[in-house]
Amino acid sequence: MVAEFSSGSMTVCNGVSIESIVREEGTPVYVYDAAAVRDRYRELDIAFGDYPHRIHYALKANSTVGIARLIRSLGGRVDANSGGEIAVATKAGFAPDDIVFTGVGKSPAELELAVRSGVFAINAESRGELERIDKIARDLRVKARVAVRINPGVESGTHPQISTGQLSHKFGIPVHQALEICRWVVLQEGLNLVGLHVHIGSQLVDLEPVKNASEVVAALARDLTSVGVDLEYIDVGGGLGISYDGTAAPSATAYGETVVGAIQETRLPIIIEPGRWIIGPTGVLVSAVVDVKSQGNGRYFVVVDAGMSELIRPALYGSFHRIELLKPNDTPLVTCDVVGPICETSDVFGAKRMMPLPNVGDLVAICDTGAYGSAMASNYNRHPLPAEILIDNSTWSVIRRRQTIDEMLAQES
Ligand SMILES: Cc1ncc(COP(=O)(O)O)c(C=O)c1O
Repeated sequence: MVAEFSSGSMTVCNGVSIESIVREEGTPVYVYDAAAVRDRYRELDIAFGDYPHRIHYALKANSTVGIARLIRSLGGRVDANSGGEIAVATKAGFAPDDIVFTGVGKSPAELELAVRSGVFAINAESRGELERIDKIARDLRVKARVAVRINPGVESGTHPQISTGQLSHKFGIPVHQALEICRWVVLQEGLNLVGLHVHIGSQLVDLEPVKNASEVVAALARDLTSVGVDLEYIDVGGGLGISYDGTAAPSATAYGETVVGAIQETRLPIIIEPGRWIIGPTGVLVSAVVDVKSQGNGRYFVVVDAGMSELIRPALYGSFHRIELLKPNDTPLVTCDVVGPICETSDVFGAKRMMPLPNVGDLVAICDTGAYGSAMASNYNRHPLPAEILIDNSTWSVIRRRQTIDEMLAQES
């Protein structure tokens, strides 16, 4: 079940008029649908059926505290990728036991925070990092729970810039070194090896690589068992993709079957770290048209007040997002390039889109922006961070208010 936003009617979401939000909060503004978040979370949960599993929502996709709280209310846990995300989790009410801590370059302070607070597991990225965790834990006279992140050497088939599972990528411990390192981990006084972790990339729309990577870690878990090392679980990471353009994407059910199918022989519980799949389709970025200009060849630029500072994915990865006029007029469709106001030629949300020519002041919704929208926003060109709105029970609330220019400047002397 996808947010009403994605159904074609952009004016109202679960009984709330988007225009009424804009009247009070202005543009650009991120709007999320809580009912859709609940539906998607449950759908993913159900896809794993009775097989023991935990959902650790990847905060990196959207770490606004109000969203994290919503996930917690559903029984979810989190995957944090920095000390800042651990702080978000804590503010949202998650206990350390609800947190897996991932990240390719954890600072000494972040490692100490994770060990001291006793997170469920630190997903460790290298032998050196394991040594540093061991030292911190021994100094604190505790045992740190660690999962060893495996780089399985699997081509994920997604965009190269969000692919993480090949040996040339910086992530994890190459699979051929993993058995030896795991055997070393269990001998360390400060370490408790609880799991194996793998994550081969984001926006995965082919389940074959997911199966392959899961099988690689399952095989390693069996090898560890055969040498007397027992694990608590396997963490297969996140990455399940969504359809941005209407082409088919795998269902939660197919994903669940794939992962469980690959892991079940180990009998180990599964952790998943979904971000995009849960939150992506539940949000839109609403922006106002600030200029319309002809390119002189029948094609137009539609300049909107959100840019790559509010949604960087198109500029960064060439990603596609549907763009809809909140109130389409009945003029003939024309070819438009929908662009932002940022001083970069790459600040394009959609090229060659066929749409009725909008007027200045009209509202557009940039769809499926719940994930990696606000979370990747910046102050580039000194855009204050937009407000974020959560629609729930036919009403709406501000879960992050718009940053003011004064707040943006407050740290500078
Ligand atoms: C380790 C890890 N887990 C989970 C995720 C979440 O991925 P997604 O939002 O594609 O589900 C990411 C993002 O790339 C990640 O790096």
